[in-house]
Amino acid sequence: MLKGKKIVIGVTGSIAAYKAAILVRLLVKQCAEVQVVMTPSSREFITPLTLSTLSGRPVLCDFFNSGSGEWHSHVELGLWADAMIIAPATAATIGKMAGGIADNLLVTTYLSMKAPVFVAPAMDLDMFAHPSTQHNLQVLRSYGNHIIEPAAGELASHLCGKGRMEEPENIVAALKDFFLAANSLAGKRILITAGPTYEKIDPVRFIGNYSSGKMGFALAAECAARGADVTLVAGPVSLKTPHAAIKRVDVESAEEMYKAATEAFPSCDAAILCAAVADYRPATRADKKIKRTGEGMTIELEANKDIAAALGRQKSAEQRLVGFALETNDGETNAREKLAKKNLDFIVLNSLADKGAGFAYDTNKVSIISNEGVTEYPLKSKLEVARDIISHLSRLLLVAVMLLLPSAVMASGEELNAKVTLNRSKVQSADSEVFEQLQDGITQFLNERKWTVNSYEEHERIDCTFGFVVENYSPDGSFTCSLMVQATRPVYGSTYNTTTFKYEDKAITFTYQPFDRLDFNEDNLDNNLTAVLAFYAYMIIGFDMDSMGDLGGSEWLNKALNIANNAQTLGDAGWRASSSDNNRYSIIDDYMNGALEPVRKLMHKYHRFGLDVMYKNAANGRKAVGECMTMLKQAYDDRSLSYFPKLFLEYKNDELLNIYSQGSIKERMDVQKIVTTIDASLSTSWEKLADDHTNQL
Ligand code: CTP
Repeated sequence: MLKGKKIVIGVTGSIAAYKAAILVRLLVKQCAEVQVVMTPSSREFITPLTLSTLSGRPVLCDFFNSGSGEWHSHVELGLWADAMIIAPATAATIGKMAGGIADNLLVTTYLSMKAPVFVAPAMDLDMFAHPSTQHNLQVLRSYGNHIIEPAAGELASHLCGKGRMEEPENIVAALKDFFLAANSLAGKRILITAGPTYEKIDPVRFIGNYSSGKMGFALAAECAARGADVTLVAGPVSLKTPHAAIKRVDVESAEEMYKAATEAFPSCDAAILCAAVADYRPATRADKKIKRTGEGMTIELEANKDIAAALGRQKSAEQRLVGFALETNDGETNAREKLAKKNLDFIVLNSLADKGAGFAYDTNKVSIISNEGVTEYPLKSKLEVARDIISHLSRLLLVAVMLLLPSAVMASGEELNAKVTLNRSKVQSADSEVFEQLQDGITQFLNERKWTVNSYEEHERIDCTFGFVVENYSPDGSFTCSLMVQATRPVYGSTYNTTTFKYEDKAITFTYQPFDRLDFNEDNLDNNLTAVLAFYAYMIIGFDMDSMGDLGGSEWLNKALNIANNAQTLGDAGWRASSSDNNRYSIIDDYMNGALEPVRKLMHKYHRFGLDVMYKNAANGRKAVGECMTMLKQAYDDRSLSYFPKLFLEYKNDELLNIYSQGSIKERMDVQKIVTTIDASLSTSWEKLADDHTNQL
């Protein structure tokens, strides 16, 4: 993801400057090109030699080299970079950046920077909390800079609080997220409605509302920045179009907005309905200004059309629809009603009861509500809220594409990034060339074959390992192997990878001779090795897609089931349908049994609403994981013979222990009870966790 990216790292005079060394090393390890720029005072904290050694480039600190007179061009750096990260950023540098005080090379580089800028503040808690620092950060945010919030913890002053520079690993994760997001909507068409509508009473008066349009415009800017083709239907607002690529349609009334939106929607991939549309308009509109009579007057109103509901009816399976709910009371209940009534994919709730949220503010506090659950976000600038909403939408669109891409658009990407190992320590006398060829053949077969009709980018390929242990081999080419298959997927917004599938296949028998072509036809299975490999390829993709969308993996899991059915004729023990051990046949047969549908749905909730959310809001993520565990228990109670609840725990137990090393004792105990009921052998690890908890108290 960061390979070849050109990154300027600005280092300022903070005790956290030593973390810049780790940051440089992490980026270089990811094959990024790093140029360090230091402020004069930062040299008191870390030497230029350290940073130039790690980055492999001379560090820049002064405007020119006093020996050679060579000029260090900040303008060229500004054009060269794909991103600039200022880490650590002191209060002084943040102030200079906000105020344009260009008295060192770092600030001049910042002012010349054409690429996105990330700022990771590091300072004492009182300095960070000071209104002046907060104001400066707000100014930087309003310029579109990305502030990587400091963490809370012990500070150099030995005080505890917010001000500790975010860990380098998380800064790299934020950068990766950014680059991932940058093109995440390329080729997508997005319709956005924004602002109020005015419903004319007479030529000089109207019924309107306080909507400023800022939220909708921020959403449009974010979509355009991610490469989308945006149509912005704007009610009467006094805002400039925030991005040159946005197609803006100005309207005044709800009727005009309805016409513009329903015309644009059929060719769009998604619509975000952010406008505060007037629900009613005057039944008649006076041609001339209504004169004061001194008497009271009544204006009869008639209903406007509901744009969101109309698009909800019009929506195709591939299209996504997002609405907003601004509520004064019973927020979640009202929002859920609107979600269902208007056929939305998710709704963004903002409550007028929250301070800093609503029409007049530049900040907003929202929750995203869908049928899968609720994600709450803290108070943020409307620009940052727009980023959160669009990240959510772009993930939904990615799933939509993956699930629905017609086979006609076959692309050339590959799905698996499989690492194959062939351990032959148990058969030492064997000819090593045969094994090397076999290992290469399997690697090629898994990685170069097109398993789906989808188009995968390099970073979307599923990382997986196939660890074979050769148990028996005879020179006539017959093999018996055991195999450990494991697939992982990165957790959104973090550097953590989670296991989405893991299974140990006890024994696979097959024959292989050097130069055998590994080939496979799913309707005519004649080779047990390729049948097994194809089976696991489809399992990995199916489990991965189940984690992306509710039952999203059906197509590929059905292919795995098909192989298991057809493979009955191959005579290998692992396929035997009548077998009671947990062989290949029984795991897929079990997983695809309709009765296990709730468990398949759990895969989606656990990954997208548990782990993905955990990074930003641990309590919310843990809550969703807890709900998944209750679902798992329910499935176990309903189908105690099913292998899946046990299999799931087998590869998720360490992760669960990790999750529940945080949070309340009650949360841990509830999950411990479920886990150990399903698999008693895991009780030791949970008892140890409980002991660790007790020792900490
Ligand atoms: N909306 C719309 N057209 C309308 C009214 C609302 O497109 N005529 C959209 C808004 O843009 C928003 C969502 O519907 O995305 C919810 O708007 P809201 O005004 O809260 O919903 P109403 O159905 O009008 O309900 P309420 O009675 O709360 O006004």
